[in-house]
Amino acid sequence: MSDRSPVLELNAITKTFPGVNALQDVAMTVFPGEVHTLLGENGAGKSTLLKIMFGVQPADSGEIRIDGEPARFAQPADAMRAGIAMVHQELNLVPQMTAVQNVVLGRERTTAGVIDWAEARRRARESLARLGFDARADVPVRQLSVAHQQMVELARALSVDARIIIMDEPTASLTTQESERLFRIIEGLRTAGKAIIYVSHRLKEVLELSDRITVLRDGRLVASRTRAEVTGEPDLIRLMVGRDLAAIGVPPSAKPAGEEILRVANICRPGVLHDVSLTLRRGEIVGMAGMVGAGRTELARVIFGADRASSGTIHVAGKPAAIRTPGDAIAAGIALLTEDRKHQSLVLGMTTASNATLLKPPTRFGFLDRRRQNTMTEDVLRPLNTKMRAEMVVGKLSGGTQQKVVLGRWLLSDSEIFIFDEPTRGIDVGAKGEIHTLMRDLADQGKAILMISSDLPEVLGMSDRVLVMRRGRIVAELPREDATEEAVVHHAAAE
Ligand SMILES: Nc1ncnc2c1ncn2[C@@H]1O[C@H](COP(=O)(O)OP(=O)(O)OP(=O)(O)O)[C@@H](O)[C@H]1O
Ligand SMILES: [Mg+2]
Repeated sequence: MSDRSPVLELNAITKTFPGVNALQDVAMTVFPGEVHTLLGENGAGKSTLLKIMFGVQPADSGEIRIDGEPARFAQPADAMRAGIAMVHQELNLVPQMTAVQNVVLGRERTTAGVIDWAEARRRARESLARLGFDARADVPVRQLSVAHQQMVELARALSVDARIIIMDEPTASLTTQESERLFRIIEGLRTAGKAIIYVSHRLKEVLELSDRITVLRDGRLVASRTRAEVTGEPDLIRLMVGRDLAAIGVPPSAKPAGEEILRVANICRPGVLHDVSLTLRRGEIVGMAGMVGAGRTELARVIFGADRASSGTIHVAGKPAAIRTPGDAIAAGIALLTEDRKHQSLVLGMTTASNATLLKPPTRFGFLDRRRQNTMTEDVLRPLNTKMRAEMVVGKLSGGTQQKVVLGRWLLSDSEIFIFDEPTRGIDVGAKGEIHTLMRDLADQGKAILMISSDLPEVLGMSDRVLVMRRGRIVAELPREDATEEAVVHHAAAE
C-alpha cells in the first residue's frame, strides 16, 4: 500500500481557539484504498482536523496536499470539488426535508450545469437502499430516528462520487447489525480504491476496519501506525490515554435491590408501543437491549412525558403519577438522558455552567451565584475527565464533552429515577469507565437506573437485569446470570 502515492497529506496543521490549542503541528498521510482511523479522547482535536480537511474551518497554519499538489479549501464546496465528502458528527440534514431530498441536496451542490432531477432522485433512493434504509423516505427527516438520520447523511456522502470520504463517528448511533452493514459498504469503497478517513470510539471496530491508525492526544500527534503494528485494544488505549485501563463494566451490587420506585403498566402508543410494562427498584441497574426502531427511545420518551401514551399508567414510589410533560417527570424525580443530546438538551449559546446547572441554578440572596455555579459544574464534570472551562460556551465544546455536560446536569438535579438512553455513545474509552462507575454509585445510593444501550458488552457488563424490546414490546426479561450475548441477540432479532 505504501508504494502508492498518497491522495491526501496534511502537514504541520495548527489550530488555536481562544484558550485552546486544538491542534499543534499535526501531520497525517492518507493513501487510496485504505481506511485510516483518527483516534483520540473527547476533545483531542479529531473533529477539528476533519473540519479543516473539509474546508469547514481554516487552519491557522500548515499545509494540505491532494495528489501531491498544495490545496486550499476556503469552504466545503472547494473540498467537494477536490473529491472529498464528509459525514458529520453532528448531523447536518435539513430537518423539514425528506430523506431523498436531503440526499439529492449533496448532489445539487456539486454537480455543475444542468441537473437531471429524476436521475438524482433515483440515485438517492439507490444510495439509501444500499445502506438498508428501511424507514419512510417521503417524510421530513426530523420524524426519523437518529440512526435513520445518520443513514441519510451517509447516503448523501456516497451519492456524490468522492475519492476521499470522511466519517466522523458514523456508527455512534447504529446497532451492531446496522454497523455491520456499514462496514460492508466501507469494505466495498476500499476495494474500489477510495480513501476513508474514519473516527470512532469503538475500539473493536477500529481494529477490525482500519488499515492505518493515527492517534491524537491533546491536539498533538502521538503515533501513526499500520494495523499490523498494533497488537490490540490495550495498545490503542495506551496511545490515546497514556495509561492502561480496566475492563468494561462494573461488578453487580452486593446489596439486593430495594423497594419498587417505578411501575409502568400497559403502555400503548399506536404503531410504536404495545402493552409495555416494567418495574424498577431502588439500587438496581436495568439494561434495555433491542435493535434501533424496537421502541426503546419511544418508551423512554413516554415515561418522561415527552410523548403521550394512548393508554397505560405510571406509578412512582407506589403513587399514581400524572406525567404529561417533561416538567411533570422532573418534578416526580425522573431524569432522561436523551440519545440526541445536542438537539434535545443543550442551549448551545449558553455557557457550560448555565447548561450544567439549568435544573437547579444556585442562588445567593436571590441572585444567581456564578462562582458557585462554576464550582458545581467543575466538580461534577472533573471525574468524567472533561476538557472544558465552566464559562465556555457549550456549543464550542467537542461532541463527547457536550454529552458529559448533559449528564452532569442530571447528576446535579434531585432525580431518583434515571433513564439513560445510550449513555456512553460517543464517549471516549477512558470516560466510559468513569460513567459506568458513576452509574453504579447512583444505584448504590438507592437510585434506580434504566439503561438503554446498543452496546451489548455494556448492557451485559452493567445490568442487574436485562429487558429486551422488539417491535414495540418487551419480549424478554433476563436476570444477570442468564443474560448472555446469544440470548439477548436471539430475543432482539427473532421473528
Ligand atoms: N469553535 C470552537 N471554538 C472554541 N473551541 C473549540 C471550537 N471547536 C472546537 N473547540 C475546542 O477544540 C478542542 C478539540 O475539539 P474537537 O471537537 O476537535 O474534539 P474531538 O476530538 O472531535 O472530540 P470528541 O471525541 O468529543 O468528538 C476542544 O477543546 C474544543 O472545545
Ligand atoms: Mg468530535
